[in-house]
Amino acid sequence: MGLLTGKTALITGAARGIGKAIAIRFAEEGANIAFTDLVIDEHGEATRKEVEAKGVKCMAYAGNAANFEETQALVEQIHKDFGSIDILVNNAGITKDGLLIRMTEAQWDAVLTVNLKSAFNFSHAVAPIMMRQRKGSIINMASVVGVHGNAGQCNYAASKAGMIALAKSIAQELGSRGVRANAIAPGFIETAMTEQLPEDVRKDWIVRIPLRRGGQPDDIANTAIYLASDLSSYVSGQVIQVDGGMNM
Ligand code: NAI
Repeated sequence: MGLLTGKTALITGAARGIGKAIAIRFAEEGANIAFTDLVIDEHGEATRKEVEAKGVKCMAYAGNAANFEETQALVEQIHKDFGSIDILVNNAGITKDGLLIRMTEAQWDAVLTVNLKSAFNFSHAVAPIMMRQRKGSIINMASVVGVHGNAGQCNYAASKAGMIALAKSIAQELGSRGVRANAIAPGFIETAMTEQLPEDVRKDWIVRIPLRRGGQPDDIANTAIYLASDLSSYVSGQVIQVDGGMNM
């Protein structure tokens, strides 16, 4: 028996990166997986096959997590396809960095909409299902910069702080129905998102990390397993920083 056997997990933005690692590790723990991404191309299909190869059911859905109507329909479809949704991981996210005074309205709106509104869209659709089931775990993928702020990322940091407050509010609203909500705040994790950073910026991050390395997507996935499973059945409204000790 895996830690998530018999549970259905819905993970957004999981064709690659941290979301993909979560899908694979959840499947190794026995969860059936529904995941979304903007498009399901050959990478998304490869992810789906890799998850399915763990011996669970896995379906991939194309959709823009930032679109409210689309998301409500998607969740309804996933609920029909799987019969339950026990775990929701709001993982889809983007960056459009810039200093406050140079940031355009479009940069601000895109990041707030894709990161924060998407988490509202999915939580709004999934919450009634979890309330009826009288169990569920919602995990918001925040960031250490959502706790501490970061020069050059005011849009991203604000969106991630919003995801933390959203998780805490859901924890308070739905706790009496057996639904838990928490946030993970990753530090510097080696994915396509951080590959874009110039080498000097990467080096600058690494020297601030006591463990002296970037994190791997599996480091986040392992924390997500804890929050998704009954191991954390008395943990709600919390933020777990997974950052190699960068922030204490
Ligand atoms: P990534 O860029 O490798 O993966 C993000 C995925 O989200 C992609 O597959 C992308 O297509 C998808 N996505 C983007 N916009 C979408 C939309 N509108 N609808 C549906 N899917 C969409 O990024 P990574 O590193 O795997 O990040 C995953 C999450 O972890 C993000 O929320 C990110 O902000 C967060 N995070 C990442 C950190 C890092 O160091 N890599 C640090 C802290 C947080």
